[in-house]
Amino acid sequence: MTILITGGAGFIGSHVVRLFVKKYPNYKIYNLDLLTYAGNLENLKDIQNTPNYTFIKGDINDSEFIDTLFEAYKFDTVIHLAAESHVDRSIKDPMAFVKTNVFGTVNLLNASKKIWDNNFENKLFYHISTDEVYGTLGDTGLFTETTPYSPNSPYSASKASSDHFVRAYGETYGLPFIISNCSNNYGQNQFPEKLIPLFINNIINMKPLPVYGDGNYTRDWLYVVDHAIAIELLFSKGKKGETYNIGGFNEWKNIDLVKVLCKQMDLKLGRKKGDSEKLITYVKDRPGHDLRYAIDASKINRELGWKPSVTFEEGLSITIDWYLSNKEWLKNVTSGEYQNYYEKQYKQH
Ligand code: NAD
Ligand code: DAU
Repeated sequence: MTILITGGAGFIGSHVVRLFVKKYPNYKIYNLDLLTYAGNLENLKDIQNTPNYTFIKGDINDSEFIDTLFEAYKFDTVIHLAAESHVDRSIKDPMAFVKTNVFGTVNLLNASKKIWDNNFENKLFYHISTDEVYGTLGDTGLFTETTPYSPNSPYSASKASSDHFVRAYGETYGLPFIISNCSNNYGQNQFPEKLIPLFINNIINMKPLPVYGDGNYTRDWLYVVDHAIAIELLFSKGKKGETYNIGGFNEWKNIDLVKVLCKQMDLKLGRKKGDSEKLITYVKDRPGHDLRYAIDASKINRELGWKPSVTFEEGLSITIDWYLSNKEWLKNVTSGEYQNYYEKQYKQH
């Protein structure tokens, strides 16, 4: 079997690529990634010379290149993670999200349709999506697979659109697909623009921790390796034409999470209790900020027996340890463009 994983040099993609390369020595695993600011081959250094693994640098927005690539390699499965993934960036530049997340996805769908040519046996287009497509919850309730889509940010609107295209290709052309919608991931290799790695980096450097609004926003956190395990399970045992929610059963208000992070960081850095908490700074809110996400992941649990394998405390501890022992990685990704982004994103606060 020949598998294409897009966005495999990014945060979640790199964990998915590693899992597949190790689990399927007889399958050919191709990782297609443009290496944007968020993509980093350092994330895959440990497996880069494995015989069943090939990296291809390329842009999913380039339809000619994508068609040629699919013709050449005749992929059986596409696991699609490549995307613009950060909500704050989508507020500043929505079109970049329309291009990659919508057009890029449709390019991959068209290329799959073309090479599979109505012969869909053992073929799969697996689209990785987000719980943000459902919009926001109030204080109670959970997102299920049948919750109506109601995206509130340019990022989630672009992901919702790509989900619709995948489903539509299933209905219209019979393309075999699976979509999974996952909650907030954290773990090793996450780019330090997202809450947890940004705050770890700022605590290391004794910089302010910019909490948006009153900090009473809730997210459901899942350790990234558990997401990768769920993706492999759905690839191998999921029902085609279905959507699955994946979540951590692990809701935290931002401010409570940040305080736990501060405590763990003080201990690990040998700093005085309370030192990191002093860095907390309430700043202007994110426009259109969704109040609460929480996933009902009972379908994947019931049908395939999946549940998170680590507790949040364990996952967070592993994550902090990784960033503390990979300061070079952090330094490399936070030089250059990152400084401009940081300056623009946080200067008004
Ligand atoms: P990321 O930003 O860390 O990685 C995205 C990867 O896609 C990068 O390696 C980047 O180089 C690549 N890429 C971007 N544009 C490309 C293009 N035009 N052509 C080829 N490659 C391109 O993202 P992530 O957090 O790992 O998220 C991966 C996927 O999972 C996304 O589709 C995202 O919507 C989804 N998701 C993320 C989370 C989360 O908490 N991070 C949760 C649920 C779903
Ligand atoms: O729910 C899944 C989604 O989770 C994924 O689809 C997205 O790709 C991923 O980026 C993530 O989106 P969020 O917007 O929830 O993640 P982020 O880490 O940006 O923010 C988490 C919460 O922390 C959110 O309520 C905003 C808040 N926040 C974030 C940043 C970067 C702050 O208070 N301060 C910050 O500086």
